[in-house]
Amino acid sequence: MTQVYVRRLFDQYAGRFDAALTVHLDYRGPTILRDAVDGVRAADASARIGSMLDLGCGTGLAGAAFRPIVDRLVGADLSPAMIEQAAAKGLYDRMVAADALQFLTEERERSEKYDLVVAADVFTYVNDLGPIVEATTHILAPNGLFTFTVETHDGDGVKLQQTLRYAHGTGYVRAALAAAGLTALRLAEASIRTEKGKPVPGLVVVAQASTVSDLLARAVA
Ligand SMILES: C[S@@+](CC[C@H](N)C(=O)[O-])C[C@H]1O[C@@H](n2cnc3c(N)ncnc32)[C@H](O)[C@@H]1O
Repeated sequence: MTQVYVRRLFDQYAGRFDAALTVHLDYRGPTILRDAVDGVRAADASARIGSMLDLGCGTGLAGAAFRPIVDRLVGADLSPAMIEQAAAKGLYDRMVAADALQFLTEERERSEKYDLVVAADVFTYVNDLGPIVEATTHILAPNGLFTFTVETHDGDGVKLQQTLRYAHGTGYVRAALAAAGLTALRLAEASIRTEKGKPVPGLVVVAQASTVSDLLARAVA
């Protein structure tokens, strides 16, 4: 799936996205991710999060779910029209129209760090998750959290579905996290939307970056 295809798809969809997803597709990605993050933070769940990147922020539905607990919220998305819809909601401190991988690379060059990176229903448009997961590790603060959803399938590896969205197998997701040195704190089945009235099989993931002591141990090893 090319960037041009995805950008065009969402540029055309932007004006009716919120109604289409929340009313017709019963979209619950942002709520499911917020619950998952609250769950792993447990005792700290009421503590504020310093900075969050909403990767593939779209019209800002995930931004809205996390804004109440986040001090600084940055959004990036491939589609300028989706960004325009999100900007109109006044939720974000900074917004950038860019491809996720390109944006992550630039943020690393700027030495930006985030306590939380959220990608809600974005990786259904990405075939190989390896490079994005790896690039995310470089902008996560020590102990930072990376939470995302994928559509999944019974086999392993990546499958392009008839819907033209990618489904990622559980083993594939676990391997991508492990290869990037992230710890999977939660990896559970969760359906974030329906398709023709049926729940679409998916996974909700919360992974954690290494601690400062892990990083130091690796540096001296
Ligand atoms: C289904 S929407 C989800 C939007 C939002 N995260 C939400 O939960 O409502 C998928 C979004 O991912 C964006 N996207 C897809 N591939 C991307 C990429 N490679 N880089 C940046 N954004 C991407 C699309 O432009 C679209 O806005």
